Amino acid sequence: MYKISLMDLSDLDTAYEIEKRTNPSPWSKENFFSSFEVGHKSLVCKLDNIIIGFVIYSNYKKESHLLSIAVDKNLQRKGAGSLLLESMIRQSKALGAKKILLEVRMKNKGAIDFYKKFKFVEDAVRADYYTGSNPDDALLMSLDI
Ligand SMILES: CC(C)(COP(=O)(O)OP(=O)(O)OC[C@H]1O[C@@H](n2cnc3c(N)ncnc32)[C@H](O)[C@@H]1OP(=O)(O)O)[C@@H](O)C(=O)NCCC(=O)NCCS
Repeated sequence: MYKISLMDLSDLDTAYEIEKRTNPSPWSKENFFSSFEVGHKSLVCKLDNIIIGFVIYSNYKKESHLLSIAVDKNLQRKGAGSLLLESMIRQSKALGAKKILLEVRMKNKGAIDFYKKFKFVEDAVRADYYTGSNPDDALLMSLDI
């Protein structure tokens, strides 16, 4: 059974391995760890006590910004991402947020469909937002909560 809990320092290495397996241009390890240290909020999803996914977000007053969400490849489309996003939304409400913001790669149709299922709306396209070996535009999406 899935269990959602706060990410702690000892979870970071496993979460980072999932990030590398699922993100075409993953955060660097330094980015990943410093995100934790600067106080971004993060949750993990465990199955039989093994981390299979995570979500990282920041919160500032009435807005939460979803920075990263991933579920390990072989366990996608089995509800874990939804549980993580629902938990993040619930926590954000408790923190006083009224809106969730995010950017997603235009080519990442699966993730866009996932967010649309949660009623996120498309706000804008930011051209050439993602650079490097895997360039892409960003779709900016938001959800009023
Ligand atoms: C996006 C992601 C976190 C979703 O997690 P998940 O556990 O697979 O999602 P769920 O099983 O909860 O899916 C819920 C619904 O979202 C939609 N959805 C999820 N993945 C989808 C896909 N690849 N294609 C189309 N719809 C999808 C479906 O409607 C799905 O319901 P259904 O399976 O009953 O049809 C996961 O696919 C992932 O880790 N992707 C790689 C990393 C990534 O792209 N992160 C987002 C960066 S912005």
